[in-house]
Amino acid sequence: MSRLVVVSNRVALPRETRAGGLASALEAALQERGGLWFGWSGNLADAGEPAIHTQQAGQVEYALLDLTRQEYDRYYLGFSNRTLWPLLHFRPTLLGYRRADRDGYLRVNRLFAHHLSQRLQPDDLVWVHDYHLIPLAAELRRIGVDARMGFFLHIPVPPPALLSMLPQHEALLGTLAEYDLVGVQGTHDRNALLDYFRDFLGATTGADGNVTMPSGRRFRIAAFPIGIDTGKVARLAERSIEHATTLRLAQSLAGRRLAIGVDRLDYSKGLPQRFEAFAHFLSQHPGWRSRISFLQIAPPSRGEVPEYRELRTQLERTAGATNGRYAEPDWVPIRYLNRSFNQATLAGYYRLADIGLVTPLRDGMNLVAKEYIASQAAADPGVLILSRFAGAAEELPEAVLVNPLDVDDIADAIETALTMPLAERRERWQAMFDTVSSNDIAHWRSSFVEALEHPA
Ligand code: UDP
Ligand code: G6P
Repeated sequence: MSRLVVVSNRVALPRETRAGGLASALEAALQERGGLWFGWSGNLADAGEPAIHTQQAGQVEYALLDLTRQEYDRYYLGFSNRTLWPLLHFRPTLLGYRRADRDGYLRVNRLFAHHLSQRLQPDDLVWVHDYHLIPLAAELRRIGVDARMGFFLHIPVPPPALLSMLPQHEALLGTLAEYDLVGVQGTHDRNALLDYFRDFLGATTGADGNVTMPSGRRFRIAAFPIGIDTGKVARLAERSIEHATTLRLAQSLAGRRLAIGVDRLDYSKGLPQRFEAFAHFLSQHPGWRSRISFLQIAPPSRGEVPEYRELRTQLERTAGATNGRYAEPDWVPIRYLNRSFNQATLAGYYRLADIGLVTPLRDGMNLVAKEYIASQAAADPGVLILSRFAGAAEELPEAVLVNPLDVDDIADAIETALTMPLAERRERWQAMFDTVSSNDIAHWRSSFVEALEHPA
C-alpha cells in the first residue's frame, strides 16, 4: 500500500481544539491509515528558527512549515481569505483583490512544493486539500514530481459566471488539471466545475466526470461528500452525560429547552440572520419566552481580515439588543460565546439540545450538522434545522430545511421543531443517522483514495 501524504494549509496537531471542518476530518482520516501530514505550522517564522518542524504521533508524521509575516498577509489573509473564500462562497461583493496577494499565494505554493518534494518517496500518494493550495500540483509537476495527486475542495463551487470574475481565473483554475483526481463536496459543485472547464477552458467533459483538456491532458472531477467519525461522536455524546461540563449546562437550563449553534465566526455561516430569526421567534411567540435558550458557540476566526472583525461587532450588537429586550433576571435568550470547545464537550452540548440550528448562507458541507445528528439519543432525538445551501442538505433531506436569508422561515422552523411529535422526530433522525453512519469519514477517505489509486 502506498504511503498517504496529506497536504493542507491548516493542520490539526494531536489534542488541538482549533475549530474547522478540514482539520477535524483529516485528523480522523490520517489516524486510520497513517502517513505524512504536511502544512503550515500556524506560526510566523522567527529569524534564525528552522522553517520546518517535524513530529510523530502514532502512525502520523507531521512536517510543518512556518510562514513569514508577508507570506501570511498575502497568501493566507489576502488571496486565500479575502479573494478566494468570498468568491467561492457566492459573495463577490465581499471580495478584495490585489495582484501582490496573488503573487504571494503563488510563491507560497511554490515554497510548499519545494519543501514537500524533498520529503516525498517513490509511490507516495499525494492528497492536497482546499483553496489555499489549488496550484500545488502544477508546482510539484514543474519540479519533476510524477506521483499520483488528488485534490479535494472543502468549500462550494459557484457557477462559472461567478468563477470568471476572478482576475486571471483561467491561469489559476486551469492548474487543477495537473491533479489526477479533483474531489468536491456535492453534485452541484461537481457540475459547476465541469461546466467551468467546458465553457472557459475549452475542455471536453464526460458524464463520468472525465475531463480532457485542449492539450490532451486528462483528469477527473467527482463528488465525495465528506463525513465525520460518527461512531466516535456518538460514543462521546453518550458518555458526556456524566461529564461535569454537560451537567453544568443542563443544570443552568433548569428544565428549559435548548437550541444550539456551533460555527466559526464567519460571514458564510448566516449568524446575523440566525440571531435575528431567534429574536423574531420570541417576538412572534411570547409563550416561549423564558422557556427556551439559544446557545451560540462562535470561536473567532481570521480576525485580521476586516470583514470578519465587522461581523463580530455586528453580532455583539444584535445579541446584546435581543438580550436587553427579552432577558429576565433568571433567563437570557441568547448565550453567545466567542471561544472554542473540544469535540467531547460539543458532543455533550449537542445531545442536550432540542434543536441544532445550522443555517449557513453557503457551506461546502457543514460537519456540525452531522455531528449534531450523531450526538442525539435514539429514544428522544432533537431536530436539525438546516440551510438548503449547506452541502449537507443534499444528504440530509429529512432535516427541517430552511432558506437562511428568510428570518420568518427560520422562526417558523424553530416553532415546528419545538412542537414536533416524538414519532416524527425519531423517524427523521433515524434516516439521517443511517446516512451519517454509512457515509462516515472512513467511507469518504477510502472512496477518494481508492478512486485516486485505481482510476476506473
Ligand atoms: N469545532 C470545534 N470546536 C469549536 C467549534 C467547532 O472543534 O468550538 C469543530 C466542529 O466540531 C466541526 C468543525 O469545527 O468539526 C467545523 O466544521 P464545519 O464543517 O461545520 O465548518 P467549517 O469551520 O469547516 O467552515
Ligand atoms: C474551513 C476551510 C478550511 C479551514 C477552516 C478553518 O473549514 O475549508 O480550509 O482550515 O475553515 O479556517 P482557518 O482559516 O482557521 O484555517
